[in-house]
Formats: sequence, C-alpha cells, structure tokens
Amino acid sequence: MTVRTGRSHSITRTKDVDTVIHQNDEGHGPRLTKRLSATDLMGFGIGIVIGTGIFTLTGVEAKNHAGPAIVVSFLLAGLVAMLAALCYAELAAAVPTAGSSYTYAYTTIGEIFAWIIAWDLVLEFALGAAVVARGWSGYLQEAFGLPTQFFGEEAPVNVGAVAIAAVLGVVAAVGIRESKWVTNVLVVIKVSICLFVIAVGAFFVKAANLAPFVPPSQPIAAENTPSTLAQPLWQFLTGVDPAAFGISGVLVAAGVVFFAYSGFEAVANLGEETKNPGKDMPRGLIGTLVVCTVLYVGVCIVLTGMVKYTALSEGAPISDAFAQVGLGWASILIGIAAIAGLSSVILVDIVAMGRIGFALCRDGLLPESIGRISPRFHTPLRITIGTTAVVCVLAAFVPLATLAEMVSIGTLFAFVVVSVAVIVLRRTKPKMKRPFRTPSVPLLPIVSTAACLALMASLAVDTWLRFLVWLVLGLAVYFFYGRKHSRLSPDSPRHAEEETAGAGATGSLS
Ligand code: ALA
Repeated sequence: MTVRTGRSHSITRTKDVDTVIHQNDEGHGPRLTKRLSATDLMGFGIGIVIGTGIFTLTGVEAKNHAGPAIVVSFLLAGLVAMLAALCYAELAAAVPTAGSSYTYAYTTIGEIFAWIIAWDLVLEFALGAAVVARGWSGYLQEAFGLPTQFFGEEAPVNVGAVAIAAVLGVVAAVGIRESKWVTNVLVVIKVSICLFVIAVGAFFVKAANLAPFVPPSQPIAAENTPSTLAQPLWQFLTGVDPAAFGISGVLVAAGVVFFAYSGFEAVANLGEETKNPGKDMPRGLIGTLVVCTVLYVGVCIVLTGMVKYTALSEGAPISDAFAQVGLGWASILIGIAAIAGLSSVILVDIVAMGRIGFALCRDGLLPESIGRISPRFHTPLRITIGTTAVVCVLAAFVPLATLAEMVSIGTLFAFVVVSVAVIVLRRTKPKMKRPFRTPSVPLLPIVSTAACLALMASLAVDTWLRFLVWLVLGLAVYFFYGRKHSRLSPDSPRHAEEETAGAGATGSLS
C-alpha cells in the first residue's frame, strides 16, 4: 500500500508520526500535564469497563445462548480483548497522544482509515451510552419496584433510560465532569459489588444449577426460528440450521458479551497525561483487562450457580438472583450500587463522543462550526447536544442486546484496524522508538485480527447490515466533505495552519 505523508489528494495521506508525538511538547495551546501512573490508568480503565456488560448481559446471554457456560464466553471475549490490548500497548507507548486508535490510523494506514475508525468510535460510544442507560433503567426498576411499562427491558418506551441519558447529556454539555474523587469512589463501588457478589453468592451456589454446563444444542422450534437476519453471520453463510445453546451458543454469547470489555481502549487516550507512557501504558491497559476478566469470571460462575440459567432475569439479573435466594437486602444494595456505577459509564461515553466529534471538526473532516467550543461552557456544545438526542432515541426504543451487538461489532472492527496498524508501522517506521513491543509480531496481531473477525462472524446478520449501512454513510460523508476539507488536503484553506501547527489529535477523555 502506498502511504503518503502530509498534504496530498490521496485518501491514504498520513499525518507525520514524529509531529504527532512531539505536538504536546511544543506548546501549541495549553498542555496536558503528565500526572498519571499505571495505577491511575487502571482505576480509570476499570471505572469505564465495568458496566452493563457484567450487570445485565450476563443474565440475557446465559438465559438465551450459553447457559452456565457464559463464563467460557466471557473468558473467550477476554482473551480476544487481551490480544488487542497487547497491540494497543505498543502503539499507546510509542505514540502517546490523546487520539488513540484514530491517531494511530492517521499516522500509519492513512486518513480514510482514520476517518472510518472515528466514525466507528462515534457508533461505539453513542450506542454504548444507550445500552448502559437501558441497563441503568432495569436496575432502577428492580431496586424500587417501579412500573415495568416505563422502566426496564419490557417498557415499550424506556422512559428511565431516556431520562438518565438526557440528564447526563446536559451534565456533559455544561462541562461538569466527575472529579477524580467521585470517579475513584465509583470504581471502588463497582469492584466491591463484584467482590460482594462472589463472596456472598458463593454460599448459595448449587452444583445442580451449573449442570448441564453447556446446555445441549437445541433445534429452534419452527415458531421461534429467528428470521434469516437474526442468525449469526457464519450460520447464514454456511447454511447450518439455526440452533440455541451448544458450542455455537457459547460463541454467539462471546460476541455479545465482548461489549463488557469495550472501553478499556480509552485508557490509551490518556497517553499525553501519563508520567511514563512506555511503562505505564502497557501496565494500565493489561492490568485493567486482567482485573476485569477475573471479576467477570467470578461473577458469572456464582450467578449461574445461584439461580438456574433458565430462571435468570434479563433486566437486573444480579439483584434478582439475590432476591431469589432470599437475600432481599443484598438485592437492594446491589441495585443501588449498580445504578451509581452505571451512571459514570454513560457520562464518560457522552463526553468521549463530544471529544471525537471535536477532533474530527478540528482536523477538517467535519464542518468546524459543528465542533465549535462553547465560550460559555468550554465544551463542544452542539455535538454533545446532538449526539445526546440520538442516544435518547436509541435508548427509548432499541433492545439492550441489539444495541450491545452493535457496540461489539464496532469495537471489534476498531481492534482489527489497530492490530493491522502494528504490523504496518513496524514496516513503515522500523526505527521508531518502541518502549513496549507487542510480542511475536506479525503472528500475534494476525491472530488478534483473526480472533476479532471470528467473534464478528458470530454476530447476527442484521447487526452486520446495520454496521455496513453506518460505514457506507460514513464513507459518503468523507468523500463528499472530509476529503476536500481535511487539513491535509491542498484544497483546504487551513492546510497552511496545519503545516505550522502540527497535526492535531483528539482531546483526552480524562
Ligand atoms: N464495558 C462497558 C459495559 O459493560 C461499556 O457497560
């Protein structure tokens, strides 16, 4: 592939990696201070990774696809996330900028790929916020016995989810951020719930509930047969009869619960604020995943051991499991803690969307006026309000599992691009300083790419179609607008500014 650096008409033009690396040292505007350690990065990572994935999807997927083997699905998804994290770690340590995968793609494989990644990230964060808002509503309903016609998955219009998304959208728009103190408290709350569930729930585990571990594959009754579009892509392509459970069910669930790990890559956005990115970034990324995987595995085993998978709730499975074994007080406690913990994930997703949109506008790939920073609130107000409105509509009507599948496919796709970028950058910039090297390149990134594609293939055909429509829409925006207006385009009135100011990247998510 020919990669062109700097101004050019090519859609694979790239930003210069050295300019991007040094932009934070050269003093264009206020600098981000280097204050974060590996432990801070892990706190931030755990804070945004633990959310609806473990609190809600565990129940949905164990009940409908994997049974007690949901723990295997979580392990598989965790393994794939770990391979991607090892690729992220090399790039995040070598190119420690706030833009993460968007910037890596811009400096390695070219502008069009960077645009696709950013477009994909918007999807990941917007839909992610909607999923977590629905999970929040489910726990609120369970904790306070609120009417199911307005709260939780059975509501025709999920008013609870819309309300929390709207409130946190306003919070993000006016620039109130969680203080580090609040973030830390929420992390402690989330980790504590998982530990509490594991420690207390373990006393109520019955071996009988865990059998059969992998429920045998059952042909789906004709009246319940999913439409062609609801089948996993690989089943559709191979013509295998649709079935529930069995090994295929475990794989389908792995694709969906991959959502539970999404967000860890946001740690890579903090590169410019990390004291020693070369060491701290790999530790922060990998440490976050290890802690989350261990907690997820524990919670899955205990949950499916406490309650038969067929009797799990789909709205608030963890609270409900404690209620089912007679620990009503614990159920309420878990519900309240989950409500607090999930709120922070929604806020971070909405803030992140604003930052990505802002970066795209700054780089000329979207109209500058949309991304303008409000002089009053110092936030990208228009983008934040616009995207929050979209999140509210999605949270009102689209089922949680459907939204989660879309986030999974988007995240997996971004991981494919990052894995490929590691291989490309080793060839195009062999001498670049790499404080952390992904082991066994190109084998590991190739395995990572294949594993991500395999999980993507286990997602439903209609998820693929929605994703492709989103990508086509993105390409249309790029070809009609971004290509011409990009700061790297010789046609852009802002290219001179780019030459002097260096390449821009996204803001941080801190
Ligand atoms: N990984 C996050 C969650 O599970 C997005 O909610």
